[in-house]
Amino acid sequence: MQALKVLSTEEKEALDSPRISTDFTQSDYLGKVYIESYGCQMNFADSEVVTSILINKGYGTTSNISEADTILLNTCAIRDNAENKIRHRLQAFKAIKAKKPDVTIGILGCMAERLKTKLIEEEKLVDLVAGPDSYRDLPNLLDQIENGQKAINVFLSKEETYGDIEPVRLHSNGVGAFVSIMRGCDNMCSFCVVPFTRGRERSRDLVSIIHECTTLFNQGYREVNLLGQNVDSYHWNNPDSNETVNFAQLLAHTAQIHPDLRIRFSTSHPKDITDEVLHTMARFENICKNIHLPAQSGNNRILELMNRTYTREWYLDRIKSIRAILGEDCGISHDVIAGFCSETEEEHQDTLALLTEVQYDFGYMFTYSERPGTPAAKKYPDDVPDDVKSRRLSEIIDLQRKHSGIRNERLIGRIEKILVEGNSKKSDKHHYGKTDSNKVVVFPKGTEQIGEYVYVKVLSCTTGTLIGELVNS
Ligand code: SAH
Ligand code: SF4
Ligand code: F3S
Repeated sequence: MQALKVLSTEEKEALDSPRISTDFTQSDYLGKVYIESYGCQMNFADSEVVTSILINKGYGTTSNISEADTILLNTCAIRDNAENKIRHRLQAFKAIKAKKPDVTIGILGCMAERLKTKLIEEEKLVDLVAGPDSYRDLPNLLDQIENGQKAINVFLSKEETYGDIEPVRLHSNGVGAFVSIMRGCDNMCSFCVVPFTRGRERSRDLVSIIHECTTLFNQGYREVNLLGQNVDSYHWNNPDSNETVNFAQLLAHTAQIHPDLRIRFSTSHPKDITDEVLHTMARFENICKNIHLPAQSGNNRILELMNRTYTREWYLDRIKSIRAILGEDCGISHDVIAGFCSETEEEHQDTLALLTEVQYDFGYMFTYSERPGTPAAKKYPDDVPDDVKSRRLSEIIDLQRKHSGIRNERLIGRIEKILVEGNSKKSDKHHYGKTDSNKVVVFPKGTEQIGEYVYVKVLSCTTGTLIGELVNS
């Protein structure tokens, strides 16, 4: 295992240097912005960057759409239905625009990047289109609209990481926060639109990541979620020492900020996750023992067509390492696509068998949706009928539900360390929080505060939630 790099004096000084401030009390003389976010956690994190950029230029924010002067939708293009949702949402804005013709409607994010000017041509309501790397330009784009023009910037950058911008935590309960550590993706899985919508992979500098996490801890946050499409290929070249920091080293640095700061991360790519990362997780109690390791399929021919660059055997070997290094309790979740081009019934069975072999705690499961311009759309016909895709998906979901139940039941009788995140949705007499392995636990309130750690004995469970009671540690 590589030795930990100690921060240089310059890096330590940089940690204390000023960053863009995000004081909520700033004026809103340029009007109020309302922002709605769709898609993955990266998009949610980006909306927090966008808000910071706009507040610092003199915009205010509102969570009430009818008060807004500018409405921004931060969009996802991963599947057809994600885009349809946005088209549908835009229809609802017609009434708003009819009442308030001056309101600006902007589309940000992956759908903006994918469709570019088409979006302005097809959706007459849309005034602004801005891709994921052009958010610093938003104030200028909004100025253009003031002058009566439509505005568009879909330039993809090889460097932009927004590393110097302190996000405004829109999507936080005050306990956990998203921290983006890299952008883009170089993997070119054949089904995936992300390399086209988010561009080339680039890693954010370690110094700004540690600064952001330290600031969050000092503000009372107790969990950071490090985000990237492929966190295991994080690599940052320190210009001072000429050394490269990898993901395992980044994790170790983050874990050392404070033992009470929990560290989570996603997404891990099976081809890149190393034993060094797993050993680093084992070394630090505050790095949560949970890994999201998308499989996509359990069949080698399909994995090859998907250009995932690993085999079922390789994937299972990684699972074996996770279990060997982190133990049986480590949470493991997956993504799976049902009905990829030319997938046969037997190949689908291989996916079900993979699920049974691994016994995941949780899964995100989808039917294949052809994305125009991707390698799969160009090379392979989308030939599995919709009803077959849906049936295969139901089988996958049913099996996963069963496994989630089994994995939850194992914890009955155990005492788990929980970070209290808030009131239970169903009852304000209960708190909820998460185990290290990312399972939600609901328990009757004691004297604990949100953001504190407690010990809870698990008494029962459903397939989605553990139910427990407080115990003295
Ligand atoms: N970077 C992550 C995934 C990001 S997209 C990784 O490599 O695993 C999140 C998930 O959406 C993917 O894991 C995949 O399961 C699903 N997905 C992506 N493109 C899709 C498509 N065209 N149709 C259906 N599901 C898709
Ligand atoms: Fe898409 Fe593959 Fe990149 Fe994940 S690793 S974002 S699935 S191209
Ligand atoms: Fe969607 Fe873009 Fe994320 S396509 S899943 S919002 S990277």
